Amino acid sequence: MRNEVPAVSETRQWNRLMDLAEIGAIPNNGVNRAALTAGDRAARRLVIGWAAEIGATVSVDEAANLWLRIEGTDPDAAPVLTGSHMDSQPKGGRFDGAYGVIAGLEAITALHDAGIVTRRPIEVVAWTNEEGGRFAPGCTGSMSWAGVHESHTWDEVRDHNGVFYGAALAEQLSAEADIPRRPLGSSPSAYVEAHIEQGPLLEAEGLDIGVVTGIQGSRWFTVTVDGESAHAGTAPLKFRRDAVQDAVRAISALSAAMEDPDDILRFTVGRMSVLPNASNSVADQVTFSIDLRHPDGPTLEARGDSILGILKHAVKDCRVTLKETFHAMPVEFSPMVIDAVEQAAATVGAKAIRMASGAFHDAQFASRVTPSGMIFVPSHRGISHNPAEYTSPAQLAAGTRVLARTLLDLANR
Ligand code: GLV
Ligand code: MN
Ligand code: MN
Repeated sequence: MRNEVPAVSETRQWNRLMDLAEIGAIPNNGVNRAALTAGDRAARRLVIGWAAEIGATVSVDEAANLWLRIEGTDPDAAPVLTGSHMDSQPKGGRFDGAYGVIAGLEAITALHDAGIVTRRPIEVVAWTNEEGGRFAPGCTGSMSWAGVHESHTWDEVRDHNGVFYGAALAEQLSAEADIPRRPLGSSPSAYVEAHIEQGPLLEAEGLDIGVVTGIQGSRWFTVTVDGESAHAGTAPLKFRRDAVQDAVRAISALSAAMEDPDDILRFTVGRMSVLPNASNSVADQVTFSIDLRHPDGPTLEARGDSILGILKHAVKDCRVTLKETFHAMPVEFSPMVIDAVEQAAATVGAKAIRMASGAFHDAQFASRVTPSGMIFVPSHRGISHNPAEYTSPAQLAAGTRVLARTLLDLANR
């Protein structure tokens, strides 16, 4: 009997992930492969080469999302879509995002090797800039594709070196001018994304698969505190408008206000910059990020909307401004995809549990366009956004078997 399950190769998939991890490798098995860099492009070329081995067609859209496609028997049928992202955090690991792209490729390779052609085409996408580590916010590729914002929305966003998102995107598209262009946006029949869990639950419970039921909401903000530069040795305190001191007051007040005894609300300040950033100058400007998350939409809205008042109350001497850069409300995935993943896990003999995602994913935006869902595999000790991120070759292969079976099911409907 033709069967895609034994055709999923644990070794090929692991070797490909390790080959990808060499691009942007940092100490202790980490990866720093920012979106829209030469490393990102090199990773994409590797994947394109592997896709060519099974005759997949390759294309790129104006948001630089990369698409691999195998045809089905019905040329008029809407495709089933899978994939994830290949950019990483600045101190990231080898699996966040890369796994979902390589798992998608492995799944269609297994179908190909088993001689199976589904009714619908299957597409594997590598979304642009999911992480938002170089250019904030993340998910710019999937948001553009889903029509949430148009693809030039972030053109003026700068990275740490002052490079504009718009310029980096243009550079990527011109470096990939040899790849056929496809229109932005499409109407797949379903989307299913494989990803590492990035939390400790599956490992702690001895499970193979998380059948993801939804994603909590996230809001990102940038706070700017404007003061006045002065001489650190001569300026008396009472004359200072010290942006660092006011930023410290602001972050302390926010941390206190966002305390949640149930540990459900997540409040993080992960990025700060100080100007002029000199030991003996009073700072005239501090900017810092806020990442706020909650599974309940109204709670997330209310907590996010309270930030400006807290800031204004907390700062003493400086001017404070607040800008929202990312607004992703909680989503619940499609029962059709959830059931398909659960059924696939049962068929391949994987131990699965339904769970929600604390991290955001491109699936959050895909779900606006098409019935969507996700498959999680365990993360060792729940560690992620860290070089120590780890999932074993066998655990990754188990997730890909579930993905392949889910795609086979959805693509034959
Ligand atoms: C995704 O990388 C997230 O921050 O949730
Ligand atoms: Mn990810
Ligand atoms: Mn991530």
